[in-house]
Amino acid sequence: MSDFNTDKTRKDFPILNGDNPPVYFDNACMVLKPEPVIKAIEEYYRKYPACSGRSNHRLGGIVNQKIAETRKIIADFISAEPEEIIFTRNTTEGINLIARSFALEKGDGVLISDKEHNSNLIPWQVLEGEKRIEIGIIKSKSDNTFDINELKNKLSPKIKLISVVFTSNLDGVTNPVKEIIKISHQNNSLVLVDAAQTAGHQKIDVRDLECDFLAFSGHKVLGPTGTGVLYVKKNLMEELKPFIVGGGTVEDSTYESHKFLSGPERFEAGLGDYAGIIGLREAIKYLINIGFENIKTQEEKLNKIISEGIKNISGMKIIGPENYKERGSIINFYHSKMASHEIALLLDKTYDIMVRSGRHCVHSWYNSRGIRDSVRASVYFYNTESEAKYFVDSLIKILKLV
Ligand SMILES: Cc1ncc(COP(=O)(O)O)c(C=O)c1O
Repeated sequence: MSDFNTDKTRKDFPILNGDNPPVYFDNACMVLKPEPVIKAIEEYYRKYPACSGRSNHRLGGIVNQKIAETRKIIADFISAEPEEIIFTRNTTEGINLIARSFALEKGDGVLISDKEHNSNLIPWQVLEGEKRIEIGIIKSKSDNTFDINELKNKLSPKIKLISVVFTSNLDGVTNPVKEIIKISHQNNSLVLVDAAQTAGHQKIDVRDLECDFLAFSGHKVLGPTGTGVLYVKKNLMEELKPFIVGGGTVEDSTYESHKFLSGPERFEAGLGDYAGIIGLREAIKYLINIGFENIKTQEEKLNKIISEGIKNISGMKIIGPENYKERGSIINFYHSKMASHEIALLLDKTYDIMVRSGRHCVHSWYNSRGIRDSVRASVYFYNTESEAKYFVDSLIKILKLV
């Protein structure tokens, strides 16, 4: 484990410095950006603000090299090959890319869990309307964890793809993705993993998982907004049909025809977010240096303080398993007497604590359970134990108002 010190680490995050820094507990939505990421973005615009993959001049050469290095750093980060890494804008775009590029036809089945983010639900619902694919929903167990038996029951020869969340943004639970993939492959179904809430919190090894597709967002791994990654297993890359096409995707074209590039670039149409990608490279380096062991230890410590501090409040319900160790960095709750938005607003306005309230883009789950909404506190390695205790005390004071 690398030498980790929260106080020292916080100095790298501009918003956490100053006299009265806010308590930022909205990390499941977006994590903060450290100085090296901000500096890398600025350096791009100041020193080499040019195109990648197009221009042979000196500045173009620097950008080419940095983008290629980033692809390699990201590939190493998830134990993939650089040719398997497609740059996207976010997880949502990665999932849409597979939905649009993977050959699904009328009657083909796609399975998803009942806890999917809208980004892993709506693309399939649209295909259901357009192509008449069929969606199957894998229901969770009563404690909201993944039900392997339900998956087994739902598999059949017509299931072509299982698209499943790795770590849920609803309750922080990490699904047994390796087992899901193994079982799905025995059925000749491919697996797309939504790793938006995983990539910044635990090591992902796509080789060990044997997953076919995996998507995550740059902004949740300390990187810039508008950057994302889609992993596609090498032998499947050629099978996908690009759906956003144009400049940067072809080797050659005539008035009548075109020849697509063979690598990931054929899915990266148009000029890219080079500043963002170069910032993402610094983010991944920073994250690796912090170390996933340290991240897990800190998240568990904070989740314990918050979960134990609020679970016995009258009218309080925490979503997901009771054991905080199963809920990673997330404490998502609702109260029988006070509306979630009111709690979040009071936390912000009165106590300078930022959380998110609402349905967290998992409307389907809330609708199916008849739960209106909830307040989600999500922590990260730069949050402190005193912030967690302050959150508990503040929440108790707020709830005494009802
Ligand atoms: C589990 C999960 N999937 C997908 C997404 C969508 O990510 P993005 O908005 O970066 O595309 C999120 C965002 O919060 C998420 O938590």
